[in-house]
Amino acid sequence: MQAKLTINKSNEFAEVDPRLYGSFIEHLGRAVYGGIYQPGHPEADEKGFRKDVMELVKELNVPLVRYPGGNFVSGYNWEDGVGPVEDRPKKLDLAWRSLETNEVGIHEFAEWAEEVDTEIDMAVNLGTRGLDEARNLLEYCNFEGGTYWSDLRRQNGREKPFGIKTWCLGNEMDGPWQIGHKTADEYGRLAEETAKAMKLIDDSIEFVLCGSSNSHMPTFGEWELTVLDHAYEYVDYLSLHQYYGNPENDLKHYLARSLDMDEFISGVTAMCDAIKAKKHSKKTINLSFDEWNIWYHSNEQDKEVAPWEVGSPLLEDHYNFEDALLLGCMMITLLKHADRVKIACLAQLVNVIAPIMTEEDGEAWRQTIFYPFAQVSNYGRGQVIRPVIESGSYKTSDFAEVPYLESIAVHNIQAQEVVIFAVNRGEESLDFTMNLEGYDITKIKEFSQMAGFDIKEVNNEKEERVKPEASESIRLEGQIITADLEPLSWNMIRVAVK
Ligand code: AHR
Repeated sequence: MQAKLTINKSNEFAEVDPRLYGSFIEHLGRAVYGGIYQPGHPEADEKGFRKDVMELVKELNVPLVRYPGGNFVSGYNWEDGVGPVEDRPKKLDLAWRSLETNEVGIHEFAEWAEEVDTEIDMAVNLGTRGLDEARNLLEYCNFEGGTYWSDLRRQNGREKPFGIKTWCLGNEMDGPWQIGHKTADEYGRLAEETAKAMKLIDDSIEFVLCGSSNSHMPTFGEWELTVLDHAYEYVDYLSLHQYYGNPENDLKHYLARSLDMDEFISGVTAMCDAIKAKKHSKKTINLSFDEWNIWYHSNEQDKEVAPWEVGSPLLEDHYNFEDALLLGCMMITLLKHADRVKIACLAQLVNVIAPIMTEEDGEAWRQTIFYPFAQVSNYGRGQVIRPVIESGSYKTSDFAEVPYLESIAVHNIQAQEVVIFAVNRGEESLDFTMNLEGYDITKIKEFSQMAGFDIKEVNNEKEERVKPEASESIRLEGQIITADLEPLSWNMIRVAVK
């Protein structure tokens, strides 16, 4: 089967915001306790952070990590996590029915974030709390000194402000499961007033307003329009969350989920612009896809997890090869919308629906989804080029045309390369032609493929079998590149250009 990608230099349409490759650490399961933080583990540093985990986080090259939740934040008192560790209260975390020791709080997390060279995307509790605690937290984090909260930070060992730039106004406030769940009007007003007050302290910060928890929520659409109507002038991004799964074991349908994601992004973008037009505003609201991933493998086992423990093994999905293919399609989809999606957080980062897993007494290891994420995060930097795709397609119950080829290209001007990412969704190989108009190709730098595995194959601590390998099946003739895309494959092609 043939497939073709044509790109033209005049169609570079968006600069990738590095925050597109963000991730997420929530106080949930073994993400913090037993994940990034495990004092006593042979790999722990003097602060208790696992160095093996930090190394893998650095391989993923994540510039932003959302923290501390998620559902957790809607019942969290941030003050419990500051001051001498021995004085910090142990509390019930109602969101995940776990115990929170508060050994890790904002100071510890900020130190970890600095070690792995990432920024914090801080969520405030608009569930059980509100404006007052949110503005206190901002004063604690970002104000230089000379006030109660900023001096408390200094007393607690941090002289300089944390300088947190991105703030989430709550989490999934449309969800009936959320502690302190609100109607769109209730939330819209609260978010507006909270952002307004916080801007008075630090007007350099940016806000993410909660959109719907997923595109299938009964209030989807109404929610976006209402909350934007209230808070438009004070916020910068609207959030999207979406997880997919393959419980029906229908591969074709599963690999088409990125088309659903594509429609979701286009729909939310249109709603932001509708409110912009309604308000005659000059300001454009961009999107923060601040939770996205695959989540379903662990649903049954989570029902067996005992409540009220610290670091229970919750949401520990073990990802297989088909998950890596869908994740690749989802990353390509985010890049296709890089003009409007400025922040995205792979949810999550360690142990909890995560690319990185840890063994309690052993090593940290890479799940299958680690690899497409790492390749796009490391090489998908620069200008995204609008793709023209010619490919056969198949039909699913919800999409008339699902192209076998999913692809995008990014021009990294500094590195003098064009990087092409491609998924072959089909079970036949694709004879793939890449036509790079307006770029002067000097050579093929790399062709890396993830292919040939059983679709259900997983990695584990002992063996990371599902990973990319270099391939020779690529040719450059004049300015035309052709490559063989193996059936069901993830591909990255790096081309040197002048
Ligand atoms: O990422 C896991 C959970 O999924 C988050 O806590 C919540 O925001 C979402 O429902």
